[in-house]
Amino acid sequence: MEPQEFTLEQQIEKMRSDWDARAQENARYYVNTAADAWSDEEFFRSGEQTVADEILTDMGNICQGKNPERMRVLEIGCGAGRVTRALAQLFGEVHAVDVSGEMVAQARKALAGAPHVFVYQNNGKDLSVLPALLFDFAFSTIVFQHIPNREVIYSYVREVHRLLRPGALFKFQVQGDPTVETSPEDTWVGVPFSEEDAVRMAEECGFEPRYRHGAGEQYFWLWFFKK
Ligand SMILES: C[S@@+](CC[C@H](N)C(=O)[O-])C[C@H]1O[C@@H](n2cnc3c(N)ncnc32)[C@H](O)[C@@H]1O
Repeated sequence: MEPQEFTLEQQIEKMRSDWDARAQENARYYVNTAADAWSDEEFFRSGEQTVADEILTDMGNICQGKNPERMRVLEIGCGAGRVTRALAQLFGEVHAVDVSGEMVAQARKALAGAPHVFVYQNNGKDLSVLPALLFDFAFSTIVFQHIPNREVIYSYVREVHRLLRPGALFKFQVQGDPTVETSPEDTWVGVPFSEEDAVRMAEECGFEPRYRHGAGEQYFWLWFFKK
């Protein structure tokens, strides 16, 4: 008998159900495996540290002279709101999506009372859930490193291109370790990108791949500027 093909839709459904299960079991651990029992304070402080490391050190590229309080930003894969909350302390408007309804529920709880933050459950592959808005900056960390399908990551990059203002930055992290073993049914280990893969993706999706950091490593950061 021929092996059954695992379709894209089945794969996305698996991402949603696996991440819902992880969120129900111990969302904060699966979001940041540095601890298995995070206090509220430590968990959100780790998000502030991410913003300190990846955003506050890079305000020239991110803000391009704009006042962050007047910027609208997008986060892909917000999980339990760890980084979203820190983004909301800095930027005027934050929109965040995640494939997991369970994660979205936790993120909404973490951000209750922040009227400038909007959290959406999306379909796991595009940004059609968002209202017709343009964004000044887009960010994603430790999300694409879990996506086992290159087509899905390309879809997000194209979608971010559709929603960014010209010249604006999409700063994001992908899996850069070429030795990882992926399988279409494994929603923990994402497809690796080489430098050549990253440049090709930028060019095919309308971005200028201006900077890269961490090629060959798990935390491979890309700076894609919308042309
Ligand atoms: C390790 S957590 C990181 C969450 C957050 N970025 C942070 O740093 O705290 C990965 C998140 O990506 C989400 N995710 C996984 N696959 C996704 C997909 N195809 N589309 C949108 N979100 C996805 C998961 O539901 C999960 O919340």
